[in-house]
Parts: sequence; C-alpha cells; structure tokens
Amino acid sequence: MEALVAADLSKTYSGARGRVEALDRVSLSIAPGQLFAFLGRNGAGKTTFIKICSTLLIPTSGHAELFGLDVVERAREVRERIAIVPQEGRPFFHLTPREHVEEYLRVRGASGESARSRADEVLAAMGLRGFANEPAYRLSGGLQQRTLVAMILATEAPFLFLDEPTLGMDPFARRQVWQVIRHATQRGSTVLLTTHYLDEAEQLAQELAVIEGGHILYRGTPEALKSRVHREVRLQFDSGFTVPELRPYGEVFEERGRLTLLTTRSVVPELTRRALERERPIHVGPVTLEEAFLALVGRGIEDEVDPEGGP
Ligand SMILES: Nc1ncnc2c1ncn2[C@@H]1O[C@H](COP(=O)(O)OP(=O)(O)O)[C@@H](O)[C@H]1O
Ligand SMILES: [Mg+2]
Repeated sequence: MEALVAADLSKTYSGARGRVEALDRVSLSIAPGQLFAFLGRNGAGKTTFIKICSTLLIPTSGHAELFGLDVVERAREVRERIAIVPQEGRPFFHLTPREHVEEYLRVRGASGESARSRADEVLAAMGLRGFANEPAYRLSGGLQQRTLVAMILATEAPFLFLDEPTLGMDPFARRQVWQVIRHATQRGSTVLLTTHYLDEAEQLAQELAVIEGGHILYRGTPEALKSRVHREVRLQFDSGFTVPELRPYGEVFEERGRLTLLTTRSVVPELTRRALERERPIHVGPVTLEEAFLALVGRGIEDEVDPEGGP
C-alpha cells in the first residue's frame, strides 16, 4: 500500500482578491519509507497540498488517502499517523525546547520516561542540548525553527510533513536536521518535504515533484531531472567573457554579473585555456539540481504564473 495517494486534488480559494486555483487536479503517490521532496516557487501550491493531505484543509474536489485512509472522511485516524512542521510555525514563547519535545510526545501518548529519553536523544542530535532549558522567546529564529523540527521529528510518526523545515537555519544546523530526517526514514517514517534549497533536495530526496501554478510539471528522481538538462557541466565566469561569445557552446545565463554556461565536457579545455590567457577565473562543476529546476520552471521571477490568469 502507498503511504500517500492524491487523486485529482483541486483547491480553489475564494477571497477578497477573487478566486485562486491553488491546485488543479494534482495526482501523486508516495511509497512508504520514501523521502519525497516537493519543489516549486512561492505560490506554486506546495503548502496547500500539504495542508489538505494533513487534514488541515478540505479540498474543493478530488481525494487523498494516507495509508489507505481518506484524509477528509477519516481525519482523526489520519492525525494519529502524522506530524507536521507547518510553514512559518512558531514555538510557544515561554516553553523551552525540552518542554516542547517532551510535552508533545506526552500529548501523543508516550510515557513520561520514554518522552524524556527520546527528548534527550533528539535535542542532542539537533544541536539543541545547550539551549534545552531556555525559554523559546530568548532563542534566535534558527534555534526556534530547530525546536519545532525537533518536536515533530521526535514523534517518529509514520508520516512526517515538513514544510520548509530548514528555513533560516545556518548550514551547520541544516546538516543536523538532514541527519535526523534520514534517521527518521531509516526507522520507517515516510517524509514529504518542501524546500527552496535545491542542494537539500539533492542530498535527501529519493524522488521529487516539481509543482508550478497548481500543476505537477515533473515527478521522478533528482538524477533523472538533471539528465533532462542534456548538459554535462556548468562553467561560471565572473568577468572577461560575454554572452554572445559563449552562446555557441550551450545555454548561457547572466545573474548578478556572473555568467553561467551549461555545456558539454569537450569544450572545457578550450574555454579554460581562454580564461587563463585572459587571467580570468573560471569555475567548473557538474550540472546541479538547481540548474535542472530552473531549466524546468524558468529563471525569471517575472515568469511567475498568475494563478488568476490561467495557464
Ligand atoms: N488562505 C488563502 N486564501 C487565498 N489564497 C490563498 C490562501 N492560501 C494560499 N493561497 C494562494 O494559493 C496559491 C498557492 O499557495 P501555497 O499553497 O501557499 O503555495 P506554496 O506553498 O507553493 O508557496 C498562491 O497563489 C497563494 O496566494
Ligand atoms: Mg508554502
């Protein structure tokens, strides 16, 4: 049985700004034990999808089942099997990280002793031991976010929804969170993660879906998405080269004065030689998931689809 099955899920919000079709017949399944990443620019529909699948929002049409349980009809049973890091969640001001983790486990039915030892374990793994007894209002934003993630991951619920869990964290904290997420899947949890950090998706996800304007554009492995770029290497030039000069070699993008060229391996020696002749730096690396993602959804913020304007 699949951990999550969504079939033709649609959601239309009606508000002061009119109707917004946030999801348009999205179908998706996630196998048990998988770490699945949901990618897409702001407003693509990721949070709406998570809210519906985690029983927080009723779909306009379509169905979703979690471990075979309809998320609307059997919401109570679904809730026993899930835990959620909501987007832009905040901890309770006066509770400490330890209280967050322990009390939440207690509410979910753990004994005092097991909640305590589980809290110790998770707080240590998340680098929160030194802050465990500080009230949340004294913690930095990154530590507050880590507290929420610790509280949810500690549950080891069969299905974990993590909506931008590493937002605002430094690179060290992110890596600790990755470890704990990996650990949760090793213990059998299924994870649906959204993130704007493409390196994070590349590190963690076995499969991913890219959503744009309420539609799934891609579903598959990160490797398969990268291979769709049909380019092997990424060259970057800080200065000394122009777009017209590089265009014959592949796709060129200019971002904040830096030129990126996606191309084949065979041209690397020639362009490296030219850069050296001009005494200019050149950076050579593999095509990343970020490049593949941008190739799929478009690079410009102005490409953002207008949800009210149709496709
Ligand atoms: N409560 C709401 N009322 C009206 N529109 C909403 C509401 N929540 C989200 N939207 C709109 O639905 C679309 C999808 O939003 P969301 O699911 O939050 O996307 P994402 O998480 O990918 O950024 C956006 O156009 C957003 O403005
Ligand atoms: Mg969101």
